[in-house]
Order: sequence, then structure tokens, then C-alpha cells
Amino acid sequence: MGRAVGILGLGSALPEQILTNRDIEQMVDTTDEWIVARTGIRERRRADENTATSDLATLAAERALADANLAASDLDLIIVGTVTPDMFFPSTACLVQSNLGATRAAAFDLEAACSGFLYGLTVAQQFVSSGFYQYVLVIGAETLTKITDWTDRNTCVLFGDGAGAAVLGPVSQGRGILANRLGADGNGGYLLHMPGGGSRMPVNQEVLDQRLHYIKMAGNEVFKFAVRTMANTALAALADCGLNKDSVRMLIPHQANRRIIDAVSRKLGLAAEQVMINVDRTGNTSAASIPLALDEAYRNGCFADDDVLVLVGFGGGLTWGASVIRWGV
Ligand code: UT7
Repeated sequence: MGRAVGILGLGSALPEQILTNRDIEQMVDTTDEWIVARTGIRERRRADENTATSDLATLAAERALADANLAASDLDLIIVGTVTPDMFFPSTACLVQSNLGATRAAAFDLEAACSGFLYGLTVAQQFVSSGFYQYVLVIGAETLTKITDWTDRNTCVLFGDGAGAAVLGPVSQGRGILANRLGADGNGGYLLHMPGGGSRMPVNQEVLDQRLHYIKMAGNEVFKFAVRTMANTALAALADCGLNKDSVRMLIPHQANRRIIDAVSRKLGLAAEQVMINVDRTGNTSAASIPLALDEAYRNGCFADDDVLVLVGFGGGLTWGASVIRWGV
């Protein structure tokens, strides 16, 4: 058993532009009614042409550092979970390191799609728990609207942009991250992917013509996988630290679809006020979704010191994860 590790500060950032369902009605054959009924999404944020993932990530990070009362120069490591890096390389984490002036920090990106923040949290915990590092910044940041096919009604109604950040460091024994679970099933990778633009299919005219440089998804299959996996993973993580669903003050689920969140909440027997939901205003922001939701719940005073939170998510890869946190330093 290493040191207890917890969240010392949180921050988030959303681009200003709001894209409503009515706006999307102008682009593809869909309706506000269909989108609300099938997903719970009413609007999402969209980054403008001058805003990239590292810009939102930097803003969220600055807010998290201020909340933790730490300076950028205190950071030992920056981890950015994203599937929409500014570019292949340098990593978005290195761009954020430069923006922040975090001169002592190592930096790398981590790609686990919508589970990216939970993967990052788990990796960061190992560094701090072992004593190797003191302060690690974990960011989930995306500009998914830039890899969204705005002619595909199956996907374009779902996604949004944003960033959320957490500063991790040592906390009192008994508080902080109590358990983490991570999983992956690469056999389902084809269900949610962006086939073009990488080394398998470098960008060329054919890739562009076939629109392979955009998100492709078998929504229904992903839906079933999500409902199945999220509740089981949350319960397994609770059992890992000797807790059960009655111990939970608040669930902070990945915000992909209101119906998925409701199904998971039912399986866990949680009341409405115990479940953080902001998908109606953010859409699915992939790796940014859990830290955005956590930050909003934190700012709204939805939980207090010593409350037990469960963070749970799933995404492309396929990947999934859950973290149990006893709040407080
Ligand atoms: O972070 C992980 C990312 N992925 C997800 O979270 C996705 C999880 N999946 C979902 O959220 C849901 O599967 C969707 C919201 C994507 C779709 O809902 P669904 O209830 O699974 O619908 P469906 O795919 O079974 O499609 C039902 C019908 C189809 O028409 P037909 O074939 O029954 O005639 C679609 O063509 O709805 C049609 N449809 C639409 N209609 C109006 C699909 N998209 C739209 C649309 N507007 N935007």
C-alpha cells in the first residue's frame, strides 16, 4: 500500500458557441424531438476554427491549478487523455506544458477514447502513490466536432467539445482514490473508430472522398455494450474497496446518452439526485465528459468531504473504467 492519492483541485472549460438541436435540423434529416428522446441531448458546445484541444485543455488546467492552490511549476507530470490531439505530434500534453509554463513537468498523451480520463487518473495515481511524483495533472480534452461528419445523422447529433482537469496529489489516509478498474476489448474496436488519417490509411483523396477521416459508429452495439459494462464495472470497483451501492453519494457517469445513464442508475438503485447529468447541455465530449461533469457537481456543492463518488465510463477501443473516490484532502 502506497500513499493515499486524491484530487486537490478541479477545473473545466467549454467553448462559447452553442449548437442546438434546431441548428442540426438545418444540416441533416433529424428533429429536436428525435434527438431529445433518443439521447437526452439538447445542445452542445463547438470550438471555433481558431480553437484546438490544447487551448481548452490549458484553460481547464489553469482553473484546476488555481483551485488546488498550486503553481504550474509545482507539477511533476501532465497526462492528457484525448482522441482529438492538436496534431499527431508533439503531444497535446507537451503543448499544454508549454502554455502553462510547467517547466518541471514530464508530459504525455494517453488514448483510451471516452475512458481516457479514468485511464489517466489510474496512471497518475500510481506515480503519486509510489512517491515517484508529488503532483500530477490529468486532463480530458476534446474537440470532437472537428472529426464529426456533419452529413451523418447517426453520429453528428451526439458530440461536443470541452475539457476538464484534475490535479492529483497526496491526501490523508482513508481519503482519495479507493479503487480503480480498467478494461479493454480490442475485438470491438471497429464499432467506434476513425479509420482514416493514420498509418493504416494515410490521408489521400480516396480517404477524403469516402469521409474516412471522420468518426464511424455502430451506435446500437455500443449502446448495449455500455449498459452492460458500466454497472458491472462500478460494482466491481466498489467491491474492490469493501463498499457497495449503498455507500455511494454520487455517480459521475460518462455523458454519452441519457438513456444509458438512466439504465446504469437503475441497475445501481440510485435516486435522481445521486446521478450527475449534463449531457443535455454538453453532448458527448469523450475524454472530457467525466471531468466536466465532476467539476460541475463539485461547483454546485453536490457532495462534501468524506462522500463516496463513483466515476464510470466506456468508449472506443473498446475500453471502460471506474474509480471510487472518498472526497476530501
Ligand atoms: O462515448 C461512446 C460513444 N458512443 C455512444 O455513446 C453511442 C451509444 N449509442 C447511442 O447513443 C444510440 O445507439 C444512438 C443515439 C446513436 C441511436 O439510438 P438508437 O435508439 O440505438 O437508434 P438506432 O441506431 O437503432 O436507430 C433507430 C432509427 C434508424 O432508423 P430505421 O433504420 O429504424 O428506419 C435510424 O436511421 O433512427 C434513425 N436515426 C435517426 N433519425 C432521426 C438515426 N439517427 C437519427 C437522427 N435523427 N439523428
